[in-house]
Amino acid sequence: MNKEMKIYKVLNADDPKIEDNQIPRVYFNGKIFGKHYAIALSLFEGTLGDYYAEDNPKKSRLSDVDILYVFLQAVKGLKYLSSKNVVHNDIKPNNLFYRGREVFVGDFDQSSLNGEKSLGNTPLFASANYFANKTRHPRDDLESLVYTIWFLAGVPMEMIKDEKSPIPAFIRISEGRALFENLKKGKTNARQKIMKKCKYLKNKYVRGVFEDIWDSELLAPSDQTVPHYDGIIVIIIDAINSISKNKHAIQGDWFSDGCCAVLSFCS
Ligand SMILES: Nc1ncnc2c1ncn2[C@@H]1O[C@H](COP(=O)(O)OP(=O)(O)O)[C@@H](O)[C@H]1O
Ligand SMILES: [Mg+2]
Repeated sequence: MNKEMKIYKVLNADDPKIEDNQIPRVYFNGKIFGKHYAIALSLFEGTLGDYYAEDNPKKSRLSDVDILYVFLQAVKGLKYLSSKNVVHNDIKPNNLFYRGREVFVGDFDQSSLNGEKSLGNTPLFASANYFANKTRHPRDDLESLVYTIWFLAGVPMEMIKDEKSPIPAFIRISEGRALFENLKKGKTNARQKIMKKCKYLKNKYVRGVFEDIWDSELLAPSDQTVPHYDGIIVIIIDAINSISKNKHAIQGDWFSDGCCAVLSFCS
C-alpha cells in the first residue's frame, strides 16, 4: 500500500458518504494487470490552481461571497482531516479540487499522521512553522489555506528585493516566510503586517472573517495547535448570510442562492 493510501484508509475514504466531508472517495486500490498499484478516486473537473491559472486569459479572481464559499468548503475538509489526526502539509491551489460548485481537499502525498514530522511542502503556500523548521499541526493547514484563498482572490503576495538580479527587481516570497521573519520582531509587529494585508479584502464581511481567524486562531498562543473549526464555520456562514442579505440574487462562479442547502448542512 502506498503512503497516500495509508492516509485515505485513516480517513475512511472508501465510505460512500466521505465526499460530504469534502474529501475524495476511494473506489478501488490495489494492483491492476497484476503489477501496477493504482488508486481509483472521485473524478473532479480540475484544481482551483488550474481554474485561476495566472496565464488564463480570462483570469478572473475569487470574489466576495465566492471567497467565503470556497473557504467554507475547504475548512470543512480540514476539520475532517484534523478529526482524524491528519495534517495535510501541502494545502495550495493545485491541491484543492472542484466538481461543479463543490470544492474538495486532495493529494495526501505529503500528509502526516498523529503529529509525525513531514518535510515536504510547497514553500509558496507553506506556514510560518515550515520556515521555523517546526513540526506542523492542523493549524498550519489552516494557515496555508488562508494564503491559498488570498492568492486565488488576488491579494498581492509578499515581495522582496532580488539580490541576484543585476537590475532592481523584486521576487514573490511566501506569506508564511514573511510571517516567520516578522514574528522574529515580535507578535505585535507581525499582527500589524497581517492586518494590513487583510485590507486588500474590500468586502467588510470577508475581511472580518480573516481578521477574526488571524486573531483567534493563527496568531493565538502556539500551544493552540488545533483550530476551533466549528466556531470558524459559524463565522463564515454568518458572513455569507450578511453578504446575501445585502444583495438580491447572488450568482458567483461557486456560490449561488441554490447553495443554501450546503450552508444549512454545515451549521
Ligand atoms: N481525482 C482527480 N480528478 C481529476 N484530476 C485529478 C484528480 N487527482 C489528480 N488529478 C490531476 O492530477 C494532478 C496531480 O494530482 P495530485 O494528486 O495533486 O498529485 P501530485 O501533485 O502529487 O502530482 C492534479 O493537479 C490534477 O490535475
Ligand atoms: Mg498536487
